[in-house]
Amino acid sequence: MLRSKIGSQIKLSTITPNPAAGKGSRFLRACLRQPVDRTPVWFLRQAGRYMPEYRAVRSHHSLLDICRTPEIAAEVTITAAERLRVDAAIIFADLLLPLTPMGLDFEFVADEGPRVHAPIRTAAQARALRTDRTEDLLYVSRAIEKVAAHFAAPRSDGDALGIIGFVGAPFTLASYMIEGGSSRNYIETKKLMYEDSQTWPILIDKLTTVLADYAAQQVAAGADVIQVFDSWAGALSPTDYRQYVLAPTTALIQRIRALGVAVIYFGVDTASLLPAMRETGADVIGLDWRVPLDHAWRTLNHAVAVQGNLDPITLFAPEAVLRARVAEILAAAARRPGHIFNLGHGIVPNTPVDAVLAVVHQIKSTL
Ligand code: CP3
Repeated sequence: MLRSKIGSQIKLSTITPNPAAGKGSRFLRACLRQPVDRTPVWFLRQAGRYMPEYRAVRSHHSLLDICRTPEIAAEVTITAAERLRVDAAIIFADLLLPLTPMGLDFEFVADEGPRVHAPIRTAAQARALRTDRTEDLLYVSRAIEKVAAHFAAPRSDGDALGIIGFVGAPFTLASYMIEGGSSRNYIETKKLMYEDSQTWPILIDKLTTVLADYAAQQVAAGADVIQVFDSWAGALSPTDYRQYVLAPTTALIQRIRALGVAVIYFGVDTASLLPAMRETGADVIGLDWRVPLDHAWRTLNHAVAVQGNLDPITLFAPEAVLRARVAEILAAAARRPGHIFNLGHGIVPNTPVDAVLAVVHQIKSTL
């Protein structure tokens, strides 16, 4: 595997770029606020445990095995996109994969979630983190190449499928590295952020470097949009978000945009953070369902595209309620260029697949 580097930009001669992938997709056009024939649609966690096809694969492989085996990751990605007939495929991977090349071991524990074995609490631990092994994540790029090749030809309606790669945002990934897993109050993360003017910048800086390189690999492999998941940024006040998170997140997003792709920046519970999130320069802001889409878009001065924002639990509602909520979101978007229909957060286990299909059908039949 190639190990040479120019600055922190990894040379990617082992990857065949696929510049044609996603060109001419209504998904990409909507990301860029260009007019589209209808609203594009895809779903956060569209490949997951709610889907029998995924559970069948998962019964033979661990989550990390699926992520680390390009053939299987590609198959899971493709199966979900084709079954749902959505407008974009998001690569099957996990937010936490970069922890391994940085030198932090973790596992997924059943009924608990991720567990990091030695969470970061000191400057020495942060200094020991590696930023020079991001090529160990090239298995994700191999999977993206397979997905991009599979979807290289336009679909029956003439539209190309969008190929989405993703990375975590510095704050959200740091929270896993510091807490050691999922958290309710982010006490250790905020303690380190407030108290330690040494450890926090070291950690955030290294994460930004690794995440930018990792995103560059995914783009070279054929991703035409990168989603940056700042899932837990909503735990921060606007003041803290601006003081500790905005600058490194902006740097990451700008480095990804400089690769020539659109960036979707997503977080949950972010109503009060939206003006600051817009300042990152992301092309698209992902909205959760707690804020009405038209409200949020106005807060953003309509200067970016928006993605969202159906409550994922609405997929358990009676059909009439679900239809009404989907129609409400489309009405709030008012056909303004730059809306991508999605959920406000990921599909949860036990969600009826038929409800997801019904939403796709409704979006496609609303012109
Ligand atoms: O289809 C897709 O959306 C792509 C797949 C995907 C996974 N993780 C696979 C996965 C994506 C986009 C992610 C991102 C991710 N991972 C996030 C950000 C997204 C968000 O929800 O805001 C986060 C916070 C993680 C970390 C993570 N991974 C946690 C906290 C958990 C355990 C929680 C749970 O639901 O069990 C995971 C596990 C995980 N990653 C699953 C999947 C399909 C479910 C577990 C399994 O299959 O065993």
